[in-house]
Amino acid sequence: MENTTSRRNVLAGLCAIAALGTTTLLPLSPAEAASAIKVRKDGKVGVRLSALKRVGAVVRIPTLNAALVREGARKYVAYNLACTHMGVPVDTSGPVWVCPAHGSEYNPKNGDVVRGPAQAPLRKIRVHVAKGIAVVG
Ligand code: FES
Repeated sequence: MENTTSRRNVLAGLCAIAALGTTTLLPLSPAEAASAIKVRKDGKVGVRLSALKRVGAVVRIPTLNAALVREGARKYVAYNLACTHMGVPVDTSGPVWVCPAHGSEYNPKNGDVVRGPAQAPLRKIRVHVAKGIAVVG
């Protein structure tokens, strides 16, 4: 049997990584993230902005199944990490966020699908920034 998928998959992966640009994503360790987040009485989560020191920093928020990303000097975006294919939580540890169920890949900078089977981007979650805290939810 001819192996035609490996070359295609390698090229697609290289194109996806190139499309992500040059900013490196920097996920915080679980301990760092835990010290940076606080669940509020209203169910929303406050994240200390000092934990997101550099553009590309990522804080995973387990209680919301979400991740907060520092996109720019004063720009933050949060995504619901439920894969839009069948809802499995997406792994945020790499430069491309990968769903472990069927391999969908997402661009962490905009939530867009890089590779299916998912068809829709990750859903954004409202973020309000004030007084050194990003409130997500
Ligand atoms: S649930 Fe994520 S790719 Fe299927």
